[in-house]
Amino acid sequence: MASQGTSIWSKHQIFEKHSYWLMLGILIVISIGGLVEIAPLFYLKSTIEKVEGMRPYTPLELAGRNIYVREGCYNCHSQQIRPLRDEVERYGHYSLAAESMYDHPFQWGSKRTGPDLARVGGKYSDLWQQEHLNNPRSVVPASIMPSYPWLAKTRLDTKHIAADMRDLKLLGVPYTDDMIEKAQEDLKAQSTTDGDTSGLDKRYPKAQARDFDGNPGELTEADALIAYLQLLGTLVDFKLYDNQANVR
Ligand code: HEC
Repeated sequence: MASQGTSIWSKHQIFEKHSYWLMLGILIVISIGGLVEIAPLFYLKSTIEKVEGMRPYTPLELAGRNIYVREGCYNCHSQQIRPLRDEVERYGHYSLAAESMYDHPFQWGSKRTGPDLARVGGKYSDLWQQEHLNNPRSVVPASIMPSYPWLAKTRLDTKHIAADMRDLKLLGVPYTDDMIEKAQEDLKAQSTTDGDTSGLDKRYPKAQARDFDGNPGELTEADALIAYLQLLGTLVDFKLYDNQANVR
């Protein structure tokens, strides 16, 4: 009995008698478990499979995404289609990890007051998007979505877009120096009807270039946001990937 008091196991009493030591012990053990399980995911290439078609946002789409985040659209809209039959039938192919690999922060959302927007690109015309943002009730009478009338009236602030791209590059988005240098040029080419889009197309395949807000004279926040909405879910051609695409 006396020897038991001095055995290594008796040290366990320190955890049983003092809750703070117990908490500290739990924290240390969980941290080690977390490191072993989670840290490798950041380095394994197979965590996010490369998917053909994915590219970083154009400067105009990125500006639109910034407005989407600023206005808190994610509070009511998710951008993550789950692999369940009802979701796939309603929204299209389930979301792939690669489709949000350039999103910092990601826009998966946690609440669906409105529909999922991961594949809303091309679902409606620009005109519908303009009217819907200006006053959702004008196109969906029972809608409870707030109106955003200032977007079409506010000039887009483009001063910081190259700096934004540089920040995203630090986080691993493959923006090249050329892309960052030509940010203003690309932004202009994408938002005007008569701009030269050859450079834009080369740097950002499948970029849609036009006047998005119905007001060609001015580059507004609505231009950027609609460019972003019309892009969502249009980059990956699922017919190339698997037969699941037929479910759409
Ligand atoms: C308070 C919740 C709420 C907020 C905030 C909100 N929405 Fe909505 N949204 C809805 C609801 C509800 C619908 C469905 C009715 C409708 O179409 O208006 C909807 C529908 C939509 C649709 C049509 C989707 C489809 O597939 O039919 C788009 C696009 C959209 N919202 C974009 C936005 C954008 C962009 C923002 C931010 C500027 C935003 N929403 C903010 C609730 C919200």
